[in-house]
Amino acid sequence: MAQQVLLRGIIMNISVIGAGYVGLVTAACLADSGFNVICADCDREKIENLKKCIMPIYEPGLESIIKRCADKKLLKFTTETSEAVQFSDAVFICVGTPEMDDGSADISQILNVSREIAQNLNGYKLIINKSTVPAGTCRRIKAEVGNMLGRLDEESEFDIVSNPEFLREGRAVEDFIRPERIIIGVESARAEEMMRRIYHKQIQLGIPFISTGFETSEMIKYASNAFLASKISFINEIANMCERCGADIKIVSKAMGMDSRIGPEFLNPGPGFGGSCLPKDLKALVCMGKYLGYTPEMVKSTIKVNDRQKKLVLRKIRKAVRRLKNKTITVLGVSFKPETDDVRESPAVEVIKGLLKGGAAVKVYDPRALPKFKKEYHSLDIDYCTGKYMACINSDCIVIMTEWKEFTNIDFSILKAIVKTPVIIDMRNILDPEQARKAGFRYHGIGTGRT
Ligand code: UDX
Repeated sequence: MAQQVLLRGIIMNISVIGAGYVGLVTAACLADSGFNVICADCDREKIENLKKCIMPIYEPGLESIIKRCADKKLLKFTTETSEAVQFSDAVFICVGTPEMDDGSADISQILNVSREIAQNLNGYKLIINKSTVPAGTCRRIKAEVGNMLGRLDEESEFDIVSNPEFLREGRAVEDFIRPERIIIGVESARAEEMMRRIYHKQIQLGIPFISTGFETSEMIKYASNAFLASKISFINEIANMCERCGADIKIVSKAMGMDSRIGPEFLNPGPGFGGSCLPKDLKALVCMGKYLGYTPEMVKSTIKVNDRQKKLVLRKIRKAVRRLKNKTITVLGVSFKPETDDVRESPAVEVIKGLLKGGAAVKVYDPRALPKFKKEYHSLDIDYCTGKYMACINSDCIVIMTEWKEFTNIDFSILKAIVKTPVIIDMRNILDPEQARKAGFRYHGIGTGRT
């Protein structure tokens, strides 16, 4: 446990509004780095469970940090935003910005929380927005709080800060403790000084700390996510072309990544990007463009290529099994990426719906995500399996959608004995094609060899 962080000689108190992926990780890691933290959420069941250390999400390392900090009374949970705000010197806003029908980001939760904070100011407060928001939102938060204070005749001072998160699901705790950079958008020296105190451990580690204005900070987040997504759609396009000319995408990707200007990350082809961030953030960026009178064509193309990539998976399956009707298709992996139980915008969802529509029977297995998948898509008539081999019994085609480690060492001899038709479509190129073919399988990767 780190030493306590003092502000004006007393332990600095922090509240986090929103106990989702970002809020929970933020609350836990700040408590673990020496602050008194209260995390508030309007979901009573979630808060009651958290008080008993029952986690609403799976994130490696998170549960043990929460248990440790709660035992030391450094981390509390409440449904009362007022209690959290009045307790703290700094308040993190970590509520959702869901996608509206037109693709724009819904910031109503952000503004509602801002008003609640204003109603509970009891002295100077740092109000820190960590949710992903269109450029200009922090300025709106400032206006909302200022208006509320004007109406409440409150003298309390406050500062607004933009502090976007760059947490990757499955490694969010690591990404909070050791981010590659910290970005803040501030308008006062006092706000910057408090943010440096909040991130004192990261600064001690020498992590770059960029202090800029609200809009610049907000745009850094969208620009980063849009660029990451564009790398994925780009490599998927090149993979699709490799299949048509006999090139090997694995070598193309590796050789590209050796150029320091390109870098090796995010050059793995697959069924398309999913998750609660990239898809939503790109649509929000296109909407922001409409508002600003500028059309971000590359961002639009990234989305278009991604939507097409999910349809391509279905085409590959149809081509491999000739017709879907009455066939049994196995889907290995329904989470949008490994090491998470999150199925939001997972490409597997659209593929499974397409298979069912085509009259196939679908068997699914995922090491962690089945409970959430079942809850979210309970109306789908699919066979939930408790193991990878069970899901392959009597299968006409095995489709690997998520690159979970336990799929990489699948035993082809066992598979060959239990499948009905030996066909594998490896949408993550995680298996050895030669091993698969030697075992008698028709193997189809992505971007490797003519298909
Ligand atoms: C992303 C950003 O990486 C993170 O910085 C931001 O804070 C939140 O959004 P996350 O949504 O957790 O993080 O997922 P990420 O690891 O970025 O993967 C997104 C999707 O891209 C996944 O579906 C993944 O399978 C896919 N992907 C990723 C590829 O298809 N190929 C790659 O090479 C990398």
